[in-house]
Amino acid sequence: MKAVLCEQYGGPEVLQLEDVAVPKPGPNGVLVRVHATSVNPIDWRLRQGMLRAIMPVIFPVIWGTDCSGVVEEVGSAVTLFKPGDEVYGFKDGRVAKTYRGTYSEFAVLPESALARKPASLSHEEAASVPLAALTAWQALVIRGRLKRGDRVLVHAGAGGVGIFAIQIAKAFGAYIAATASERNQDFLREMGADVAIDYQHDRLPDKISGCDLVLDGVGESVWASSLSVMKRGGKMMTLLAPIPRDGVGKLRFYGRAASHMAVWTVRATLGGKRILLTQGKPLGGELEKISSLIEAGKVRTVIEQTFSLEEIAAAHRLSETGHVRGKLVVRVSR
Ligand SMILES: NC(=O)c1ccc[n+]([C@@H]2O[C@H](COP(=O)([O-])OP(=O)(O)OC[C@H]3O[C@@H](n4cnc5c(N)ncnc54)[C@H](OP(=O)(O)O)[C@@H]3O)[C@@H](O)[C@H]2O)c1
Repeated sequence: MKAVLCEQYGGPEVLQLEDVAVPKPGPNGVLVRVHATSVNPIDWRLRQGMLRAIMPVIFPVIWGTDCSGVVEEVGSAVTLFKPGDEVYGFKDGRVAKTYRGTYSEFAVLPESALARKPASLSHEEAASVPLAALTAWQALVIRGRLKRGDRVLVHAGAGGVGIFAIQIAKAFGAYIAATASERNQDFLREMGADVAIDYQHDRLPDKISGCDLVLDGVGESVWASSLSVMKRGGKMMTLLAPIPRDGVGKLRFYGRAASHMAVWTVRATLGGKRILLTQGKPLGGELEKISSLIEAGKVRTVIEQTFSLEEIAAAHRLSETGHVRGKLVVRVSR
C-alpha cells in the first residue's frame, strides 16, 4: 500500500510517500481502507518532535490521526463492525512508539475508536470530524458538564476544534462567545456564536463576563484574561499545556490563590475557578453522539481545502500557519 512514511523528526519534507506492507489487525483491531484523513495540529507537532521528551517514537512511523473509510478486515474479537461497513474515527497519535497512523491506504484502528460514518457525509467530510469534534465534545460535555443556559467562551472558534465546540454548545442551548481574527468575525456568527470577539482589537471583559465554561485552544497567553471573565465555580478546559523543554517543568502561578500544578495534569484552582487540561480521546461511543448531531443537522463540518496524499507536506505547511478556517482534508483512495 501507499503510505506517508517518516524516518526522522523534522520539517514537512520528512513526509515521504512510500510502498509499505498492509498491516494485519490484532484481535480487537479493525483494518480500514482509508478513503480520507485530515490534518490536525498534533500531526505536525509529532512530526517536528515537539513531544519527543514525553512520547518518544521508534522510526519509521506513519503519522496521521483521523480517518474515514471502509472496513476491510476485522480481528477475531471484534463484534461491532464487519467488512464493508463505512466507518470513521481517530487513532491516538500519542500512545504507541511504533505508530502506524492514517496517512496510508490502510490503517488498523481499535474497534473502540470507530463509529459508523454518518450517511449524509462523504468520506472527505467525515474524515474532518473525529479528533476535532471529540475533543470539543469531551472538553465541554464530559469535563465541562455543559448544560442549557451556560455561558461559554470558545477561544480559536474558527479552527477545527472551535467550529465543533461552538455548534455543540449551541445544540445544548448555551450562550456562546468565540474568538478569532477580524476576517473570521462573521464566520464565528455563522457557526452559532452569539458574540464574536476579535482577539487583536477587542478586550475580552468588554464583550463577555460570568462564563461557566471556557474552551482554550490558544494556550497560556489567554489564561489571565479568561479567568477574569469566568464566574466563581467556572471551569477552563485548556487543550494546550505549555510544553516544557525537559518534559517535567512547572507552570507559572496565576495569583496567590493558585494551587501547585504539574505540567501534564494542569489542574489549578484560582478563587474558585478551575483550569483543567483536556485531551481528546478516541472513543467510538462518543463519536456516535456527534454523528447524531450531524444527522439532526445541528453540527456540520467546514473544510477549507482538500489535498491529495502526495500533497501532504503542503497540507502540513498550511496547518502550521495556525490560521486555517475549519479543517484541512487529505484524500487517500476512492
Ligand atoms: N489536547 C488535545 O487533545 C487537543 C486536541 C485537539 C487540538 N488541540 C490543540 O488545540 C489547538 C486548536 O486546535 P485546532 O485543531 O482547532 O487548531 P487549528 O484548526 O489549527 O486552529 C486554527 C484557528 O486558530 C485561530 N487562532 C489562531 N490564533 C488565535 C488567537 N490568538 N486567538 C484566537 N484564535 C486564534 C485561527 O483563527 P484566525 O485565523 O482568525 O486567527 C484559526 O482559525 C491546537 O493548538 C491543537 O494542537 C489539542
